[in-house]
Amino acid sequence: MQKKGKRILSLFLSVSFILAVGCDKVNKDTGLEKAIYKDKNYTAEKRVKDLINRMNIDEKIGQMVQAERGSLKPAEALKYNIGSVLSGGGSTPTDNSPKGWTEMIKQYQQSETNTRLGIPIIYGVDAVHGHNIVKDAVVFPHNIGLGAANDIKLMKDIASVTAEEMLSTGVTYDFAPCIAVAKDLRWGRYYEGYGEDLELVKKLSSEYIKQLQSYGIAATAKHFIADGGTSWGTGDSGYKIDQGDAKIKEEDLLKEEMLPYEEAIKSGVKSVMVSFSSINGVKNHSNKHLITDLLKGKLGFKGFVISDWEGIHHIPASNFKEQVVTAVNSGIDMLMEPNQWKETISALKVAVDQGKISKERIDDAVTRILMVKFDLGLFENNLGDSNLIKNGFASTEHKKVAEEAVMKSMVLLKNDGILPLKKNSKIYVNGPAANSVGLQCGGWTIDWQGNERQTSGVTILDGFKNIASSNGGTIITDIAKAGEADVTVVVIGEKSYAEGKGDDGDLGLDNGMALEKNIEALNQAKKLNKPIVTIMVSGRPRIISDKLKDWAAFIEAWLPGTEGEGIAKVIYGDENFKGKLSVTWPKNNSKLPIEEDNVLFPIGYGLKY
Ligand code: GLC
Repeated sequence: MQKKGKRILSLFLSVSFILAVGCDKVNKDTGLEKAIYKDKNYTAEKRVKDLINRMNIDEKIGQMVQAERGSLKPAEALKYNIGSVLSGGGSTPTDNSPKGWTEMIKQYQQSETNTRLGIPIIYGVDAVHGHNIVKDAVVFPHNIGLGAANDIKLMKDIASVTAEEMLSTGVTYDFAPCIAVAKDLRWGRYYEGYGEDLELVKKLSSEYIKQLQSYGIAATAKHFIADGGTSWGTGDSGYKIDQGDAKIKEEDLLKEEMLPYEEAIKSGVKSVMVSFSSINGVKNHSNKHLITDLLKGKLGFKGFVISDWEGIHHIPASNFKEQVVTAVNSGIDMLMEPNQWKETISALKVAVDQGKISKERIDDAVTRILMVKFDLGLFENNLGDSNLIKNGFASTEHKKVAEEAVMKSMVLLKNDGILPLKKNSKIYVNGPAANSVGLQCGGWTIDWQGNERQTSGVTILDGFKNIASSNGGTIITDIAKAGEADVTVVVIGEKSYAEGKGDDGDLGLDNGMALEKNIEALNQAKKLNKPIVTIMVSGRPRIISDKLKDWAAFIEAWLPGTEGEGIAKVIYGDENFKGKLSVTWPKNNSKLPIEEDNVLFPIGYGLKY
């Protein structure tokens, strides 16, 4: 009896052990549904803690890598646990519509939810003046124009429209706003900043950040730090000034350039992007003091720091692995490695295995990234919360906000009384930027460098025609009939450009990034002997001192975007001018960055009716 009893007992014990283990295994697997990180009733902190304890090193490393859609298939996103995907300028699905975008991003998200722990990706784009990469999106004036408008409510409305158009596509990460305090207008990114005045940059960028993020979209304060303070001739990647070196003492950095970042952090910005540039000869992407001690330490930034496009490749080192180690140990949490995402993953693995990057640093980076994903609600809505969309993509309401931005950003710099024009007058409209939505939008529109054949929108010429046609006015574009006109409107400007490709050492009207036909159009207008109203479509001031005397009126329209009718509305007097320069306008090209005696129009200058 005893023996038999023992056998039954041991059988019973082993069966219950197997069941227990099995159950436990089963509980663990099925327990995922009940896992804390899956339950939105827990705080983000608790969910992150639970999740990170479940993650293995491969899953953690994958979260730190951002790949470009063109080099990453959804199946690879799954296999390598990729944390983020981006579209560089012009990198769009074949169907470049909200539907096409949503379908594309769904594929990446589905692959991610099929990973063991189902962590959603975060998809990033440069929606820097509206959701500008998507066809027919409403495109706003670039930031330099919004600096001239200097209108908080307008900034919030622009952020709302941008957010709604992003949510129409499933994109929840915006590499904007650029909070550069631009100091040298020869810089090709001058127009991406709001202006030279620190307070203005702080105010407008923080409003944009708060409003955009209220829609569950991560904003990015960029490019950390002093990207707009580099010196001419120190540029990198073959550029003259972009990605160059800023010679600046730390005390000045703290009391100037750091202030917009402090404000952005107070506004809860989720991400900060490191600048390609250097400070006092040290590449920002390798500067632990800047990123870890100052940004994360002194300023207490709790979001995640992302490198710029292959920005770590600029770090002086003998190989890529070393660049990865230096970047992550400097405090970079997510690596924007559009093409070398696989090499990045293996470099991170080797570095962790060799102890060159500590597990604590990995956990810190992944914690920051996951906190943002939980805060944005991506675990519940991995395409963003479309219930927040009030007005449809490219809706009339959205266009109205953009037209308001155009009208408020224009700056009247001269008016001998010719403006406002009468709606029933005969106007000869000419000039290389009169009839091009592409030039009105400038860089970062559909394509990285802009697209002069940009599709939808209202050109400045269209705007004049629309108003004149319903008020007995005549718009002439045929030079043969120009003699019949009461006044000539000439629209000159700049080619589209972005980043260092727009670096321009000679800011006249007939070279560098100036449109080839500017002078020809101005000379033709002069021959007509009619009053001339000149409008400039540009990302920065250019040298107009020797021409100004020929013009009855002069308006800087900046890069107004798709809603060009706003220009004509103000010139016809439907609205008054509101814009004031947020930058200094130089007299000549010789003393740049601008010196005291080289000012044609000061910051704050702008006339009204
Ligand atoms: C670019 C820019 C940066 C942009 C990023 C992704 O090189 O420097 O502003 O967000 O790459 O397009």
